[in-house]
Amino acid sequence: KPRLFSGMQPSADSLQIGNYIGALLQWREMQRTHDAIFCVVDLHAITVAQDPAQLREATRRTAAQYIAAGIDPEQSTLFVQSHVSAHAELAWALNTITGFGEASRMTQFKDKSARHGADATTVGLFAYPVLMAADILLYDAEVVPTGEDQRQHIELTRNLAERFNSRFGETFVVPEAQIQKASAKIYDLQDPAAKMSKSASSEKGVVWLLDEPTATAKKIKSATTDSEGSVRYDSAEKPGISNLLTIYSALSGTDIAALEDQYAGRGYGDFKKDLAEVVTETFAPIRARVLELLSDPAELDRILAGNADKAAEIANATLARVYDRMGLLPRR
Ligand code: TYM
Repeated sequence: KPRLFSGMQPSADSLQIGNYIGALLQWREMQRTHDAIFCVVDLHAITVAQDPAQLREATRRTAAQYIAAGIDPEQSTLFVQSHVSAHAELAWALNTITGFGEASRMTQFKDKSARHGADATTVGLFAYPVLMAADILLYDAEVVPTGEDQRQHIELTRNLAERFNSRFGETFVVPEAQIQKASAKIYDLQDPAAKMSKSASSEKGVVWLLDEPTATAKKIKSATTDSEGSVRYDSAEKPGISNLLTIYSALSGTDIAALEDQYAGRGYGDFKKDLAEVVTETFAPIRARVLELLSDPAELDRILAGNADKAAEIANATLARVYDRMGLLPRR
């Protein structure tokens, strides 16, 4: 089976629906056909200020959401990044072959550093994509399923892998991004020009997996649309409705053309009401399962520890190979 790696940052209360549609849905399918490794990337999370107690809790909650959404920790490897020290170590080694200019061109870094201001822009935030490259390269991953926003980081990963291989000899597998065309970018419900994101300036356009169903329904009903009144996909002219159609289609498995037919001649009210039902019905069982998993944190920690051992075995072997190629003296 081809090896797959992907990860997500822990988020305080809940993942948002973009994480679910852009990443988790694909992960769940692909774990059947791939040797899949999924990581909660807590070392990435600390590149911006975090409250320690909250971060610990968020990491467990995020792992619980992976499992509740259908990631099977028996079949796939599901672990916490900081539990496998090779991630930080390989990131350091890769830092030494990453150009300063190359890292400066990462658009997510430019956005985040602009948002956080010069004083909160740390060397860690700058090196974030290099840590992501380490995540992927440690496992010889062939495919990396993510949303559109990670494309540039995966491109950097490929460049670093190729550079290392040509400088030190064949060491890394050069990975491919796998980005689902239709659902690669879910937009904010209030501002359909912006990506839905947990760091959005307002909560109103963000749908959380673990929200109360009534709160979710309310957000969908007040989503920005247009004055034309017909349910039709047109991302340029009708970004709001198009985004809702994307969400509806991804969660129901019905294609967009069929949805357009189904709602021909009906108003946005009907459409939104049904969509709210689809969304809340999708997430109700996930929510229940998350609560159940969180009621036994010791069991969850046990699962994560066992999986970290599995991951470390692969990662440590790669790191040893890398250190050797680079000429670091092995400790006897
Ligand atoms: P993160 O935590 O921001 O997002 C996790 C996954 O969700 C996808 N995603 C979206 N997809 C569609 N529409 C949206 N609005 C949306 N928002 C988020 C992201 O593309 C991602 O797939 N740097 C990564 C985490 C990471 C990683 C890795 C990923 C660290 N190491 C190695 C893959 C491989 C991040 O911050 O994702």
